[in-house]
Amino acid sequence: MPHEYLQKLFGLDDQVAVVIGGTGVLGGTLCEGLALAGASVVVAGRDVERGEQKVQFVRDLGSQSVFLPVDSTSRGSVQALLEAVLAEFGQVDMLINAAGVNSAEPYFEITDEAFDLVLATNLKSTHLGCQIFGRHMAVQPEGGSILNLGSVSAHVPLSRVFAYSASKAAVVNLSQNIARELATSGVRVNVLCPGFFPAEQNRKVLTPQRIESIMKRTPMGRFGEPEELIGAALLLLSRKAGTFITGSVVYVDGGFTAASI
Ligand SMILES: NC(=O)c1ccc[n+]([C@@H]2O[C@H](COP(=O)([O-])OP(=O)(O)OC[C@H]3O[C@@H](n4cnc5c(N)ncnc54)[C@H](O)[C@@H]3O)[C@@H](O)[C@H]2O)c1
Repeated sequence: MPHEYLQKLFGLDDQVAVVIGGTGVLGGTLCEGLALAGASVVVAGRDVERGEQKVQFVRDLGSQSVFLPVDSTSRGSVQALLEAVLAEFGQVDMLINAAGVNSAEPYFEITDEAFDLVLATNLKSTHLGCQIFGRHMAVQPEGGSILNLGSVSAHVPLSRVFAYSASKAAVVNLSQNIARELATSGVRVNVLCPGFFPAEQNRKVLTPQRIESIMKRTPMGRFGEPEELIGAALLLLSRKAGTFITGSVVYVDGGFTAASI
């Protein structure tokens, strides 16, 4: 039966996924995709109210889910998250690093505070998630799979978001290096690079003028819908479908990075 074959390739039954930043627009949608594929989902983040709402939504889809608080920039907090996940579920098979912030300004106006916050949230958080969860996954017999959120700005820098673009280029580089390092330990690490999806962190960045330039540069001529990330995420995360995929960077961007003029 074809659907049984797809279930074998992409089904995540009996697996536990942690989504750091599952409180956000894209991370939250990925929580739903993981749940629909059969995984138990830990929604992790610092926004308790949104986290609890997402947990209820995921439970209504038929999966087990809990909210666990985390500050993704703090080693102690990410370590405590891993321990809380293991206390609750006894295992962790997948991690998505989807916490992120943005800051947009002309180059000469970037403050040290804004620069540090973007680098800490987007890059250091990714490193802490990979190191702390990866170390645990590497000694599990089944290994594990990590998906980091990059951006099209990792490939081509975007005007006004200097620290953000630099952080995402670094996320790609770091992810590939960790993928190489962990390749023989059963832990796969990949990067999902979305194009433009309206969300919390880019609300202020998406001015009418900027939206016009994005649409001109996006061959498909529209924003992405968060659900359009799910298929690529499941491919990269799945133990059966993605067995030989590590260190890959997958763009889901309506053709943005494929186009020039
Ligand atoms: N929306 C887009 O167009 C787009 C494009 C490319 C990449 N991305 C990336 O996707 C990821 C998700 O972003 P989004 O668009 O859903 O944004 P979002 O603002 O909706 O979600 C980000 C989440 O991260 C959480 N967060 C921020 N700092 C945190 C911290 N220190 N500890 C724990 N949680 C923290 C926020 O509370 C929020 O829930 C980010 O890495 C972002 O850079 C988004």
